[in-house]
Amino acid sequence: MPHSETENEHSRFTIDLRAPQLSDGAAMWRLTRDTGVLDLNSSYQYLLWCRDFSATSVVAVSDQTKQLMGYITGFMRPNDPTTLMVWQVAVDDAARGHGLASRMLDYLVDATSAQRLETTVTDDNVASNRLFASLAQRHGASHDITPLFTPEVYPDNHDTEYLHSIGPLTPTSAQNTTQKTTLEGNHMDTSIFESTESEVRSYSRGWPTVFTKASGSIMTDEQGSDYIDFFAGAGALNYGHNNPELRSELVEYMTSDALVHSLDMMTPAKRDFLQTFKDLILAPRDLDYKVMFPGPTGTNTVEAALKLARKVTGRQHILSFTNAFHGMTLGSLSVTGNSMKRKGAGMALTNSSKIPFDDYFDGETPDFLWLERVLEDSGSGVDKPAAIIVETVQGEGGLNAARMAWLKELRELTARHDILLIVDDVQAGCGRTGTFFSFEEAGITPDIVCVSKSISGYGLPMALTLFKPELDVWAPGEHNGTFRGNNPAFVTATAALRRYWADDSFEKGHLAQVIDTIQDALTKIAIEVEGTSVKGRGLLTGLHFEDPEIAGKVAAAGFEKGLLMETSGPKDEVLKLMPALTIELDVLQRGLTILAEVISDVTGQEITLVLNETAKV
Ligand SMILES: Cc1ncc(COP(=O)(O)O)c(C=O)c1O
Repeated sequence: MPHSETENEHSRFTIDLRAPQLSDGAAMWRLTRDTGVLDLNSSYQYLLWCRDFSATSVVAVSDQTKQLMGYITGFMRPNDPTTLMVWQVAVDDAARGHGLASRMLDYLVDATSAQRLETTVTDDNVASNRLFASLAQRHGASHDITPLFTPEVYPDNHDTEYLHSIGPLTPTSAQNTTQKTTLEGNHMDTSIFESTESEVRSYSRGWPTVFTKASGSIMTDEQGSDYIDFFAGAGALNYGHNNPELRSELVEYMTSDALVHSLDMMTPAKRDFLQTFKDLILAPRDLDYKVMFPGPTGTNTVEAALKLARKVTGRQHILSFTNAFHGMTLGSLSVTGNSMKRKGAGMALTNSSKIPFDDYFDGETPDFLWLERVLEDSGSGVDKPAAIIVETVQGEGGLNAARMAWLKELRELTARHDILLIVDDVQAGCGRTGTFFSFEEAGITPDIVCVSKSISGYGLPMALTLFKPELDVWAPGEHNGTFRGNNPAFVTATAALRRYWADDSFEKGHLAQVIDTIQDALTKIAIEVEGTSVKGRGLLTGLHFEDPEIAGKVAAAGFEKGLLMETSGPKDEVLKLMPALTIELDVLQRGLTILAEVISDVTGQEITLVLNETAKV
């Protein structure tokens, strides 16, 4: 090894990037041998490469030790002098996790003025697959992968080498043409998570990398690889990561000695939020709600809603729907459908029953037949419930979207029987379905509304429980909580409302365009891929696969190509797409292109995805 670093140590390298010289040949051969994964060619070949292909190759040499830290060898075919064919990429162990390979690749693309790049990679070479997917993303280039050398052409059982063809290449801001460059980073050491963090962790298993930065809809990991975020913090980042307009207000607030923590004391930040929420959200929608701060999470607002419904009506029972998800504390779990999550409670989850969600019987049985009948029959043995809690789109339960007519009927039925209607808008709210509240299109007014996730606009914990004024029967302090006054969240929430909801220009403009683009692409994919259908509404949407294994495989393949998506549904059979509402159209387009590619790779079905006009940028 040229020099070593301790495993966890943050490190900084200054390296020179330059064309290889004959004197580099021996070190290139040694580095290739020491990687243990690259095909080792004869030492003679590396010397020849340094002599005859140096104009299309690069070496990275430590400024301090003058030792070779990495190289990329490439060539340009005489009949295609604008395409750079990359042969081998090697990085010394001590330099891993610093984005060195990306930096060398950018240097080489610039140095050769290549308009396209080709390379071959085997399927199991995760690092190289990520490296080239990331290059394609940085350039906004298309990235085609086709088998080039299949096992039968090899004498030695070599795995299939896939030809990656990336282009057109254009200069990007990420490129660095200077020869001396400083790389900072640390080894992507994940051992502390495995040894010390509980087995309960889940997202880090599906996306096994260490994320360091995020801006808008792009997340970057310690290796310098970029990912398009179609997950948006499970709906907590509707305006993207580190939205600069919200951040500037936050930074100003945080450096002003204003209150950060205030329980339910009065602060200017909370006053501004309440006034803005009333003026921009409630009043224009004719909604007369009191606002309660129940604690900062989604499950906090659900607990408060259930508690209030019981207190107001004096009844205990709550009805909720098949495949519902309302949170992980006991009250919320009792109205949740998922059996694995319910089992986690380790005790009986009582005082609630499940009723069929819209279309549970595939339209063959009238939706509210049973409910209407048992509520009218005093001998039915079914206690009259305090409330019915519903998600207009079941985010975790498989992206089941209720029809507007069904929601209307539910509202009428609950009103007729003096049952409170709670809409849990924790995930579907804050613009995700195309309007600020997900129930607006149905023209209904719920008695209680649960809001959280994106209400702060910045990923800061915050939740609201909204209810009709006549339901405000709380005694002071009857529902409490230390973290109900998260002032930085009030500041970003106010900024988000002013920026995106002061009028309908965002809703009818960019948001509508993003929804149109994604729905159009999903519809086209569903037409082309057998056994697939579009689920959800607005930007809480995705694809259902008849074979329940496929969604997980597509999500995993998407990660390898730099696209973050999760799955949903009782069998994780639905691929869930939830990009930021503010996602740039070109980033959305790139994400949808990767999506089509990975679905095609996993299902073996060819997809020709022509994005609609609005997506063309
Ligand atoms: C509809 C709904 N309600 C409640 C919750 C719980 O929110 P939290 O995880 O913040 O407690 C979620 C979380 O995904 C949700 O989707």
